[in-house]
Amino acid sequence: MMNVLSSTSATQLAVAHWNESPLYLSEQERYSRYPWLYEAAEFRYHQGRRVLEVGCGSGCDVLQFAKHGAKAYGIDVTPAHVVLARQRLMGLAHIIYADGTRIPFASESFDYVYSCGVLHHLDKPREMVQEILRVLRPGGRFNVLVYNRWSHVPLILMLKHGLKWRLWIENSTAPVHIELYTVRKLRAIFAPIRLTIKKYECYHNQKLGQFIGWFLGAKGSKPVS
Ligand SMILES: C[S@@+](CC[C@H](N)C(=O)[O-])C[C@H]1O[C@@H](n2cnc3c(N)ncnc32)[C@H](O)[C@@H]1O
Repeated sequence: MMNVLSSTSATQLAVAHWNESPLYLSEQERYSRYPWLYEAAEFRYHQGRRVLEVGCGSGCDVLQFAKHGAKAYGIDVTPAHVVLARQRLMGLAHIIYADGTRIPFASESFDYVYSCGVLHHLDKPREMVQEILRVLRPGGRFNVLVYNRWSHVPLILMLKHGLKWRLWIENSTAPVHIELYTVRKLRAIFAPIRLTIKKYECYHNQKLGQFIGWFLGAKGSKPVS
């Protein structure tokens, strides 16, 4: 595949990490592990609309948008994930090898942009946020999920693994850039766009998840004028 990477070391680390140990869950595994995700991602509500997933990994979520009638597109920088996503989607969605900081689509060409577990791997996250806003039509909505710093997960990993706890966040201990977010930091990255932020994921208990959930989900829209 032609090189489409921005030159940041964070992106290069991500590619090396997931090329070496690709992340593949069946639909059943993913939505029983994250039962809140189906509603949080809004898979069912974009029929006939143009939807882009940035950092689609092996394609499980982009498949759900496609199954529910969206014109679905996914991009990812890891070649091994692009291959797995294309195999999973079997033409139901367009999967493109591309960097989220240089999205290869025209401005104002999507109704909804979704991204789960990607922005926190970037060292220049505003570049991806600007690209998301560029490709959204005025009034179009985005939904971006990142890891929450004030969650039970860092605490548990610290107790289990000590100082090197961050190496156990992802699916392998190969190094990867991870920036944990606070609500304030997330709002600052999207400013001046206003966000609605919700927390998810604490042992399937959303009563706890809304306070210390491992994911911060940020929803908002591109201003009309
Ligand atoms: C933890 S995986 C999440 C994949 C998928 N969204 C999910 O929830 O299973 C992180 C993904 O972000 C992708 N990624 C990291 N940096 C990226 C960038 N700059 N542009 C596009 N994708 C990127 C990686 O290749 C990887 O597939």
